[in-house]
Amino acid sequence: MPKLAWVRAATSLSNHEICSISKRHQAAKGWCRHLKGVGILKVLAKAGCVADLISVAAISFYGSEPNRDAPVQIVGGANKKDAGSLTFAGKSALVTGAAGGIGTAIVRALREQGAKVAAADRELSGVAAEAHLEGDLLDCAYVEGLAAAANDALGGLDILVNNAGVITRGPVTETSDADWNLSLGVNVEAPFRLCRAAIPLMAGQGGGAIVNLASCWGGKAPGPNHALYCMTKAAIASLTQCMGMDHAHQGVRVNAVCPNEVNTPMLRSGFEKRGFDPDTAVATLGKSVPLGRIAEPDDIAEVVLFLASDAARYICGALLEVNGGKPVS
Ligand SMILES: NC(=O)c1ccc[n+]([C@@H]2O[C@H](COP(=O)([O-])OP(=O)(O)OC[C@H]3O[C@@H](n4cnc5c(N)ncnc54)[C@H](O)[C@@H]3O)[C@@H](O)[C@H]2O)c1
Repeated sequence: MPKLAWVRAATSLSNHEICSISKRHQAAKGWCRHLKGVGILKVLAKAGCVADLISVAAISFYGSEPNRDAPVQIVGGANKKDAGSLTFAGKSALVTGAAGGIGTAIVRALREQGAKVAAADRELSGVAAEAHLEGDLLDCAYVEGLAAAANDALGGLDILVNNAGVITRGPVTETSDADWNLSLGVNVEAPFRLCRAAIPLMAGQGGGAIVNLASCWGGKAPGPNHALYCMTKAAIASLTQCMGMDHAHQGVRVNAVCPNEVNTPMLRSGFEKRGFDPDTAVATLGKSVPLGRIAEPDDIAEVVLFLASDAARYICGALLEVNGGKPVS
């Protein structure tokens, strides 16, 4: 994860402390003289990664007399060895929807940070992972056995990402029974069954983290003409909050990421079906986002990794909106 944090030069860490943390990095010393302490770096220092972070930030700012009250961008340096609670060395993860837009990014990011990954999807030929568990999430037997299969293949299960999803469009009056079964089956029932199987496994191994993919549309502000999709995403959000409370005592943290629009096949296929050119439509949609663009899969994957990581060790039952500043209206 090359970009770790924005921190504000603020409090608590003395120049002496920063310099001693980063003493093996000569370049950092000049920068440290100017910067009067950054509280969050203290936390990062405990995670064992601050020296490299400081050194990279120092190289960026060295010679430019950084303003101690200005925001400081940590521009890199979180290598696998030093990133402490944000690394996944020795961790095993199961990711559903692993061949999709966001799923591909999650699998790649987890593996880059040292995790072993069991990928699950209907077709996985192009997906690099330690285990490939192909199947249909509408098949109850497959879903019921998936957590155990990942556990067996990887020698443990620390992380489950319920990422697979389908979108059905239209109001209720244009929604078929097949739409209902598909939406509920993939977006709600499969994560329910997977969590039910994974939680005891994780608890028995000392704990774990589950991250569900909900949506900005699944909560207080559903989008128009996607009744079933919004309802299923509200359901998984609610389930996340309940499981987050109910299983924290077992050391299993359950949280959800709620993206707004993300540039993936799910979104692009919708434009195509409505006769729009996806690239043009994505660019136009980006203008409605305060950050100036819709999300890319990596923007979501990195938040998933944060919630799955030890850095989020005190977060349970949270629904984290990732929206570029664009609320659903
Ligand atoms: N793209 C967006 O704008 C957006 C916004 C908010 C939330 N989300 C959520 O993010 C998650 C990932 O979405 P994405 O945009 O990457 O979509 P995507 O269509 O690119 O990927 C979804 C993946 O789920 C898999 N899948 C679907 N049905 C399955 C089944 N029956 N069995 C096994 N696998 C199945 C698909 O094969 C696919 O690889 C979804 O839960 C989605 O609802 C996406």
